[in-house]
Amino acid sequence: MEHSDFGKRFAGRIGIGELMDDLGNALVADPAPLMLGGGNPSHVPPVQARFRKRMEAILAQPGEFERVIGNYDTPQGAKLFIESLVELFRSEFGWKVGPENFALTNGSQNSFFYLFNLFAGRFEETRRKQILLPLAPEYIGYSEVGLEKDFFRANRPEIARLEDNLFKYQVDFDSLRINEETGAVCFSRPTNPTGNVVTDEEVSRLRELANRQGVPLIIDNAYGTPFPNIIYEEVQPIWDEDVIVCMSLSKLGLPGLRTGIVIAREETIRIVSRMTSVFSLAPGGMGPALALDMVKTGEITRISREVVRPFYENKAQRAVAWFKREMEGLPFAIHKPEGALFLWLWFEGLPISTQELYERLKQKGVLVVSGHYFFPGLEEDWPHKDECIRVTYAQDDELVEKGLSLIASEIREIYSNS
Ligand SMILES: Cc1ncc(COP(=O)(O)O)c(C=O)c1O
Repeated sequence: MEHSDFGKRFAGRIGIGELMDDLGNALVADPAPLMLGGGNPSHVPPVQARFRKRMEAILAQPGEFERVIGNYDTPQGAKLFIESLVELFRSEFGWKVGPENFALTNGSQNSFFYLFNLFAGRFEETRRKQILLPLAPEYIGYSEVGLEKDFFRANRPEIARLEDNLFKYQVDFDSLRINEETGAVCFSRPTNPTGNVVTDEEVSRLRELANRQGVPLIIDNAYGTPFPNIIYEEVQPIWDEDVIVCMSLSKLGLPGLRTGIVIAREETIRIVSRMTSVFSLAPGGMGPALALDMVKTGEITRISREVVRPFYENKAQRAVAWFKREMEGLPFAIHKPEGALFLWLWFEGLPISTQELYERLKQKGVLVVSGHYFFPGLEEDWPHKDECIRVTYAQDDELVEKGLSLIASEIREIYSNS
């Protein structure tokens, strides 16, 4: 095979890779642009101090550092960490889980690659199954994990318009079809990119529909409760043998250590562990080692509730206030920020697409992500896909305020020239 043939195999599937490259190239410009396009969590000082203290304790204990870095864990992941997680979820939520229901991975992105390719794709040559995303827009990172084409089917949402320039997406159950081609149903809660939190009522209806079809409901809890708890709505977390919950230590502050957690029925955990053994032998051990005592003592829940959530919620409120101030007199809407790290801005009827807006903003020195990337599996034409952008508010306040101000002045210019 010619090298160029490899490229062809992936033709049309390199959206996120191209975007990451483009953002990366733009970042080396001088002066560096304001980066509101990434998904990095904030460096929350009390949380970082806690991990530093734990690292110092590992280093101070003779042989402990060498043990953590010098051994492979089993493919399922660090045993003590898993046992502590079992206790945490039993006491926190009363879930009837045991160690057989947990597997660690090298980040939840890694978990989704395993799970999606396990439940969707081609079966027995002809049967094809897809991952159903019941509420588009959805996380960009899902879009290319399928090893085959047409891997996702997404459902267009209903839009509830709220007061104060806010709106909220809702699952449109009237148009939602779960059928024999559905391999699993998945949604992120809170959602990246919108900050939406799928309501408890919606979750229970989705759970019922998935159960009726005999397929798992996968809940991407990367921002959810009990950690990192970047969620501003009170929700009831759920798990049973028909639900798969995916967690991560990234948004708590350890994205560099790549630790994902899958909570599922025993059979699924066994397969996920085998996949880990094939793809990477074992999950990394440093994330579990740094978080172990916080999980054991339950402090991970406390710090998430008392420090992490208010930290981000305050940032979200400030960002909304700044943007509203800058957009005075212009048409815009913001998805109600209910969690995660992002404001999802909707410019209904904007005379240019948000991809063009992205290019113009890049020239002005601010990087955002055009919303059209966040609709994997939603093929239909829908102008809304080209009317939204995602901006992070996890960066330093000064940078976020400046970036939002530049976005507003660009929008003002676009309207005044149209
Ligand atoms: C909704 C969602 N799920 C999963 C991930 C993947 O996170 P990680 O692989 O770092 O655990 C992210 C990262 O941004 C995310 O936003």
